[in-house]
Parts: sequence; structure tokens; C-alpha cells
Amino acid sequence: MLLRKSSSADVPSSEITPQHAYERFRLDRRSFLGGAAALGAAAIAGSRLKSILDPETEAHAAAELQTVPGKYTTSETQTPFNKATNYNNFYEFGVEKDQPAKNAHTLQTRPWTIQVTGMVKKPLTIDIDTLLKYRPIENRVYRHRCVEAWSMVIPWDGYSLSELINFCQPLPGAKYVQFLSDLNRKQMPELPSGFDWPYSEGLRMDEAMNPLTLLTFGCYGQVLPNQNGAPVRVIVPWKYGFKSGKSIVKLHFTNKEPHTLWNDMAPNEYGFYSNVNPHVDHPRWSQAHERRIDTSFIPRTIPTQMFNGYSGQVASMYAGMDLKKNY
Ligand code: MTE
Repeated sequence: MLLRKSSSADVPSSEITPQHAYERFRLDRRSFLGGAAALGAAAIAGSRLKSILDPETEAHAAAELQTVPGKYTTSETQTPFNKATNYNNFYEFGVEKDQPAKNAHTLQTRPWTIQVTGMVKKPLTIDIDTLLKYRPIENRVYRHRCVEAWSMVIPWDGYSLSELINFCQPLPGAKYVQFLSDLNRKQMPELPSGFDWPYSEGLRMDEAMNPLTLLTFGCYGQVLPNQNGAPVRVIVPWKYGFKSGKSIVKLHFTNKEPHTLWNDMAPNEYGFYSNVNPHVDHPRWSQAHERRIDTSFIPRTIPTQMFNGYSGQVASMYAGMDLKKNY
């Protein structure tokens, strides 16, 4: 299989943000931080910067994040940190669940830039630390349901993706946003062949703008461990976990449904929507129940909820759609 040629170090010059647009992003951030009401946020941003840039804490990969309590938080028993960070899907670092924790230390998360391209008024190339300081980081405890029928409850740290999208001002014709993960063969020695790398995922614009969709920089109050998608990933809590791309380097706005890695691999198994739905089984297993990985020694089997329990926030986006066809 031919692999897509792309990496964070391989950016066409036509897509580099003009300096003035970058400056503008910084200016807007300053005006956000400059308001009297935002003084508290400025203090938060300052301390966040210190802990992230401190070479010692960086070396321990456990720099703390200053967070504020977020909305949409579940009070269900949380999955312990060591389970959420040692049982992962991050195929770039190996296909077994314990491999990302062992192998992802090779991923270098600084310097790191994220490009915003395609149908937007303000295309950008943003440094991760600028993005991190753009809005206060909220702590949101979400249910996290994998298509393989296991689930966790994880406190993620980030802010709504809509904040960044609003800044970039999508053009009226933009209907979808594609998320591209990093591809760096030197830093990913376990990269399996047979996949159309880089990992890509996508959302419809209203899904991307839904306040639940989280641009995620941390979990458990710390910067994301590499195996969980450092330095920035997307979390879409009403969809199966594979919609939540890790280690994102590009957001591309488009008028067509973007290709996504798993949909390309097996379209009959992994649809573009992939909303958690106990009534639509995976062709090879039931989705009616899930194994909840939390503090119990043996994971409990519990019923799966429609939209992973977030119907109140998201069901209206799919009104009138046949969710059996649009799985
Ligand atoms: N993102 C990238 N770049 N590569 C991957 O292999 N796996 C996906 C998703 N994002 C994946 C990815 C899948 S299948 C799941 S279930 C979640 O990440 C797992 O996230 P977690 O390891 O933090 O639980």
C-alpha cells in the first residue's frame, strides 16, 4: 500500500501562515487576556507556561496543568491514571494495548506546530504553547467508549474546539474538518505497514463546533502522556474513541466528507459518524454492552448508552437521520 507523504516537518510553503495572521492570533489572545475580567485567566496562563516550559518538569513528562472546573462532567467512578495510560490504542507506536506506553517516549512534542488550512478566512500555523494559552484549560470528566466495547472515565483537560474554529473563521462552504495526526517515521519505529498514514479523522462542522468536542492538552491535571496523544488531541465523547485523533498537526476545513483512516481500511465496520449506538452492532461483535475499566479488579459489564450518555447535548444534530445507515 502506498503511504501518504506528509509529516509535520514537511509543510508546503504555500501553507505556512503569513506572519501577519500569526501576529493577529497573538494579538487576539492578548486582548482576551488583557481584559479586567480575564486577569485570573492571565495568571493561570502564566503559571501554565512555566510548568510546561520548565526543562526539568518537561523531562519528567508530567508537568501539571492549571485547570478550572469544566461543564459536562460525569461523577461516575474514574479510571485510575495507570490504567488510562497503559491500555491504549496508538497504532503509530504498536498495535498492542501496552505498546504505546512502552514506545511513545520517542515522540518529541516540542517544538510542535498545528496548521489550520483549507476553507477558512484565517489559515494559521500555531505553536502549541500559544494554543495552550489561548483559553483557560477546563477539567472535564468524560466517558470514553472504544469501538472494541471497553470504556473508561477520564478527566481530560482542554477547551472546546469551537474556540479555535471561531478564531479561524471557516468559510460558509466549509462543511467538514479533517484532523491529521503527526507522522514521523524516525520517532515511530514501530509504525505498522498496511495503513494509510498519517492517522486521519474528521467531523461534520456542527459536530466539531459542539461545545462537548474538546481540544485536549492534558488528562488528570497533567500534560498528556505521549501514549494518550501528546501534545494535543481531540476528544469527541459521544463517538467511538477512534474518532478522537491523537498528536494532531493539522486541521483542514473542506466542503467534502474527508477520508479517514479506519473508514478507508474497513468501511463496513467503521463508518464516518461512528456515534456510540447500542442498537447498531459492529459486524463482528455487539455494541449493546461495554467493559468498564475503572477501580474494580475485574472490569464490570454495563449497558452502553445511546450517544455514550450525551444524547441531551448531541441528539438534535442527527434528527431525521437514519443512524443504522449512517453508522
Ligand atoms: N490517534 C492516532 N493518531 N492513532 C491511533 O492509533 N487510536 C484511536 C484514537 N486516536 C489512534 C488515535 C483509538 S482506536 C482510540 S480507542 C483512542 O485513540 C484511544 O485513546 P486512549 O489510548 O487515550 O484511550
